[in-house]
Amino acid sequence: MAYKLNINGHTTTVDVPADMPLLWVLRDVLSMKGTKFGCGIGQCGACTVHLRGRAVRSCQTMVSVVGDSPITTIEGLSADGTHPVQVAWQDVDVPQCGYCQAGQMMSASALLARTPNPTDQEIDAAMTGNICRCGTYMRIREAIHKAAGHASASARHSHPLHVAANHQKSKEAL
Ligand code: FES
Ligand code: FES
Repeated sequence: MAYKLNINGHTTTVDVPADMPLLWVLRDVLSMKGTKFGCGIGQCGACTVHLRGRAVRSCQTMVSVVGDSPITTIEGLSADGTHPVQVAWQDVDVPQCGYCQAGQMMSASALLARTPNPTDQEIDAAMTGNICRCGTYMRIREAIHKAAGHASASARHSHPLHVAANHQKSKEAL
């Protein structure tokens, strides 16, 4: 059956069985390999993507229930690797083997979208379903705090009042 999917801002039509998990569609049909297969039973979080902005396990999401809801995968988190989570992950050097990290970043970015400055407890609660066999949990938590800082700094700099203040400072410096 044909399904029209909205993935990373592009409409793509796939002809697949109704009960095919979105993870299979992404990886095997569309060759989008950033989203990882870990357990296939909703227990590890490696396959996390955003559906309508919420983190979901794509191995447990049948293609037939997606409809035209926007899907974001790790490939679509930003056009150029500058999403605050991606920048913070690099700053903190989070990954070890890296296998779980696409899912970790998708869960972290969904958390920050709804809770811009999360506490340790909120981070732990949101990230609890994302398993890392390399044990990078402390670096993940640090990177999420850092990403929250990057996001609020860039929001401050792009705020009209700050742009005006920075413009005034530059004029004074001349
Ligand atoms: S592969 Fe989907 S939760 Fe593990
Ligand atoms: S970095 Fe290896 S599983 Fe998480």
